[in-house]
Amino acid sequence: MPDGMMVDYDGLIPNNVGLNQDARLRKALETWHPGYIDWWKQMGPEGFQENLVYLRTAVGVDPKGWAKFDYVRMPEYKWGILLAPAVEDRRIGFGAQKGEPAWQDVPGEYRAMLRRIIVIQGDTEPASVEQQRHLGATAPSLYDMRNLFQVNVEEGRHLWAMVYLLQKYFGRDGREEAEDLLRRRSGSQDSPRMLGAFNEATPDWLSFYMFTFFTDRDGKMQLEALAQSGFDPLSRTCRFMLTEEAHHMFVGETGVARIIERTCQAMRAAGIEDPGDSERVRALGVIDLPAVQRKMNLHFSLTLDLFGAEISTNAANLFNAGLKGRYREDKLTDDHVLRDATYPVLRCIDGAIVSEAAPALSALNMRLRDDYVADCQGGVGRWNKIIEKAGYDFRLTLPHVAFNRHIGEFTALPVDTEGRVLDAANWAARRDAMLPNADDAAYVASLMRPVSARGAYANWIAPPKVGIDNKPGDFEYVRIEE
Ligand SMILES: [Fe+2]
Ligand SMILES: [Fe+2]
Repeated sequence: MPDGMMVDYDGLIPNNVGLNQDARLRKALETWHPGYIDWWKQMGPEGFQENLVYLRTAVGVDPKGWAKFDYVRMPEYKWGILLAPAVEDRRIGFGAQKGEPAWQDVPGEYRAMLRRIIVIQGDTEPASVEQQRHLGATAPSLYDMRNLFQVNVEEGRHLWAMVYLLQKYFGRDGREEAEDLLRRRSGSQDSPRMLGAFNEATPDWLSFYMFTFFTDRDGKMQLEALAQSGFDPLSRTCRFMLTEEAHHMFVGETGVARIIERTCQAMRAAGIEDPGDSERVRALGVIDLPAVQRKMNLHFSLTLDLFGAEISTNAANLFNAGLKGRYREDKLTDDHVLRDATYPVLRCIDGAIVSEAAPALSALNMRLRDDYVADCQGGVGRWNKIIEKAGYDFRLTLPHVAFNRHIGEFTALPVDTEGRVLDAANWAARRDAMLPNADDAAYVASLMRPVSARGAYANWIAPPKVGIDNKPGDFEYVRIEE
């Protein structure tokens, strides 16, 4: 068996990192564990801590059989530390030290930079659990409730993954950072989470699906870039996290797809020809497509902010240092050093949006964002297929990247979803047609009533095509005591 395939599943902390042979690390993690459980009980799914939930638990790292499904109470979930198997003779794939052996320990000169990216990634994981903690109470089905909790426990495991790196490789500083990860709170005035999108509310299930589609996908892009890292333990950690992350985006994409499907079905049955007739559509108790579009506009733009400034010395430094690569760096065919390369960057110059060639090293955030947008586009195309099949000529579109931005080139620039720069009055007049408005919020909130009978679904969402773990339609994904 290659290094890292053996999983010790029986201890308090399932792992394939040899915790039993590392007393110092085990002590650090066991000291951190009670605080984590307190955090989970306080900030994890509200009202369902005692219920049995049919969850997937990672029990190995073999791509063909890494998980098992069973009923668990969430506070008893086995949050393990799992690294993808080591690659023999792995080399640094990019940057100034390209070709040298990958680091098995933290290179001293990059210690601060490395710690920072691990903390930033780690901070997003518990944040999303906090953002989603009220949603169990309004789940549209047991199936959806279970998917929410699955995402939540896995984000919890991702926090463990980052805390493992901090405690194993960063000594006392790492232990302090690990404590702070449990101390910050999404949306808090005093100690908010580190990134903007992770301090926003997730008030309803449409937001949840949009969040998992758009914001978990940013997570995927960041993990892909870190999976390329020359710091091998980070690479292996992120590679395993990516196997779980795929399900989160599945939940988002199929959640929105099922909403669209149900809306189209209801419109057809009622003889509605114009999907823009929101009043008639809402009278059917389903979510009108323009409201779906506005939610998309919001979540897409908030998530773009997570990629940081288009032109960034920090991104260049991380790449040069061999710590954070590009999306699928190992599949790219250039020199992986990028000293003389350029990359087109959208900039705001004298109030106009123009494309400009920038040094490729400084433009790495922009590049990752472009890869992200292309990845989003695939899912949006599949959503549109549903609308097309139902015979409506309405199409959902990603807004322009300059729309509704709070970080980078386009910060606070009043731009419409097509990328046209507006004057302030025009922006104010059109805002409610482009971003979720008060009516949308009130209407969607009015739909958020729990449905917890086996095999039943709220009126505004279609059932899934197949069950989780191939379970039948009326499977009891969450045991709700009467
Ligand atoms: Fe995650
Ligand atoms: Fe995720």
